[in-house]
Amino acid sequence: MDRLLVTGGRRLSGSVRLSGAKNSALKLMAASLLAEGTTVIDNVPRIVDCLTMGEVLEHLGARTEWNGSTLTIDTSGARGVETPYELVRKMRASIVVLGPLLARYRTARVAMPGGCNIGSRKIDLHVKGFERMGVEFSSKHGYLEATAPDLHGAFVTLDFPSVGATENLLMAAVGATGRTVIENAAREPEIQDLASMLIEMGAKIDGAGRTAIEVEGVNDFEPVRHRTIPDRIEASTFAMAACVTAGDIVLEDARADHLELVLDKLDDAGAVIEATERSIRISMDDRPLAVDLVTLPYPGFPTDLQPQMMALLSVVRGTSIITENVFESRFMFVDELNRMGADIRTEGHHAVIRGVERLSAAPVRSLDIRAGAAMIIAALAADGTTEVFDLYHVDRGYEDFDGRLAALGADVRREREPSLVGRA
Ligand code: EPZ
Repeated sequence: MDRLLVTGGRRLSGSVRLSGAKNSALKLMAASLLAEGTTVIDNVPRIVDCLTMGEVLEHLGARTEWNGSTLTIDTSGARGVETPYELVRKMRASIVVLGPLLARYRTARVAMPGGCNIGSRKIDLHVKGFERMGVEFSSKHGYLEATAPDLHGAFVTLDFPSVGATENLLMAAVGATGRTVIENAAREPEIQDLASMLIEMGAKIDGAGRTAIEVEGVNDFEPVRHRTIPDRIEASTFAMAACVTAGDIVLEDARADHLELVLDKLDDAGAVIEATERSIRISMDDRPLAVDLVTLPYPGFPTDLQPQMMALLSVVRGTSIITENVFESRFMFVDELNRMGADIRTEGHHAVIRGVERLSAAPVRSLDIRAGAAMIIAALAADGTTEVFDLYHVDRGYEDFDGRLAALGADVRREREPSLVGRA
């Protein structure tokens, strides 16, 4: 497993082109299962999670081909309905193939996803919604077996605006008989991107991006060519890296309209932000100021930016409070930050961050995709050279993150971790 050596103290400057949104591309890939033929998705990030979703599609009989960031998916041979544990274990988002498989084949067998470092990651809202649509489930040997001979529309109210449940139910509803309404639906831009591709394929959807999504089921779908929206979480991660180094960078192909609250918070912290239709310039010429934030479903502050913001706030002037409302254990990385000299205390869903002048380099671990990015951000502002271990977490969600940071002036070096076997 690789590790990253990061020597702090360099200001980031220059421009970086954003990749397509991981949390949209994965679902667009699943949606291709609805249509017989060749779907082309542009701007797909070349990251481990998308490669894993490609393996899931291949396991179902589809053929995938990458050409740069353009992914071609030929589903004409796809007849499979099972997603095995060894793939779901690598990426729990594989569960979103359930919706399209039910819409197309009225049956599916998907390994139940486990928990991860940020929470139990339940799927009860998915199951409850599907049952309202006539799906019958049985769980055996860690697999969810689903059958829905008469998959029909339903009125579904989600207890929580779950992104995955909204997407899974949406991809079943578009092929169900009759009308579905998903109330308390998630409103993320990635949901809107998925809905726009489904509509291009022939689906009848109204209200994606609002709390009530209405769907009229149809029988067939055409394969299409669709371009993934840019990754707002990646954009914000680079923005926070720039702020922590008193840098000045331009984010190319950024959608400021997907980042309003995040940009507000960085503005409150003292950043200077200039946004155009397709780019955002962000600079910080002094030590940032403390800000408070709570994570909420979109358009609230994204939970996927909580760790990166925590890293930035650990070196600001003043004391900040972060409240994490979306996942039940997304503060596990705080201990790693405190090992670098941060002064953060957590109590339940709250973290109190007292800004310190400088962090100091230390060997630290990446606990998940976003915590790993947070450790790298902290290391950019630390005295000395920090070793960030378990880089594969970061590689799951960011395309060449270290290479692009280096292009912005960061002093980073990737090293293959000596494997114990090699030393024996
Ligand atoms: C998606 O996960 C994202 N992943 C996550 O990004 C993101 O953090 C999350 O949405 C929230 O924005 C992908 O899109 C691949 P949820 P998802 O269902 O769909 C609870 C990253 O780093 N819940 O909105 O799994 C759940 O436990 C990843 O890119 C239930 O209780 O998130 C959590 O507390 C991390 N029952 C909350 O809802 C359910 O059936 C939000 O989960 C489903 C969810």
